[in-house]
Amino acid sequence: MRKQIVAGNWKMNNDLDASKSLVKKITKKLKKKSLKDTRVIVAPTFVSLQKVAYKAKGTKVEVAAQNMHQAKSGAFTGEISAEMLKSVGVNIVILGHSERREYFGETDVILAEKVNAALENKLEVIFCFGEVLEDRKSEKHFSVVESQIKNGLFHLEASAWDNIILAYEPVWAIGTGETASPEQAQEMHAFIRKIVADKYNQEVANNVSILYGGSVKPSNAKEIFSKEDVDGGLIGGAALNADDFIELVKSF
Ligand code: 13P
Repeated sequence: MRKQIVAGNWKMNNDLDASKSLVKKITKKLKKKSLKDTRVIVAPTFVSLQKVAYKAKGTKVEVAAQNMHQAKSGAFTGEISAEMLKSVGVNIVILGHSERREYFGETDVILAEKVNAALENKLEVIFCFGEVLEDRKSEKHFSVVESQIKNGLFHLEASAWDNIILAYEPVWAIGTGETASPEQAQEMHAFIRKIVADKYNQEVANNVSILYGGSVKPSNAKEIFSKEDVDGGLIGGAALNADDFIELVKSF
């Protein structure tokens, strides 16, 4: 059965010292909580990954990368491969974040290749997608989300879905303070689960965790996470503060 997950995407924030200090605070605070069923993930920048993974080892906190390149190795200046992530103790990677799609030209085709490379290297993938405001205003949000999921993931075998986590992040809600209402999130998550069930089967659909992302904070998390098809959150801003992040983890 699917797991509840709270994942913090630190984006381009926190140098090495700040990253170490934040993960230390989070692991310390989590020790006291009983969270048997909730997975807690943090995603620092590449330069902090190794140290954060080292500090998180043996704790409740898992560590994810924010991106990776699809090739195994070679002349790709500035890039990091799946194997390299594994070599520093990272087992999860975020792919398809709207900031990668928008600012770094990551297309569905590139993302499908990245998904394959990650899975081949036994990395779990947090696959992000979501519509921009224009799409929602013109009622294209369902078709946009469907095509992002289809193009990025529907080439996979059903068994590969054991290592896929979905993250619905409406672009208009990211970093804007504006959140999808719990009803809007539930409506989209139910739609996502249905298209996965139609493509594969009900078991695959029931087992995949679907996270919501976009201005989730302690004040609104409880209501969003209480929705049937919302299995947790991918958190930006509020994940940079240990107390807020722990509040979010406790919101289930
Ligand atoms: P905010 O929580 O800052 O809106 O960011 C969400 C996000 O993009 C997580 O990946």
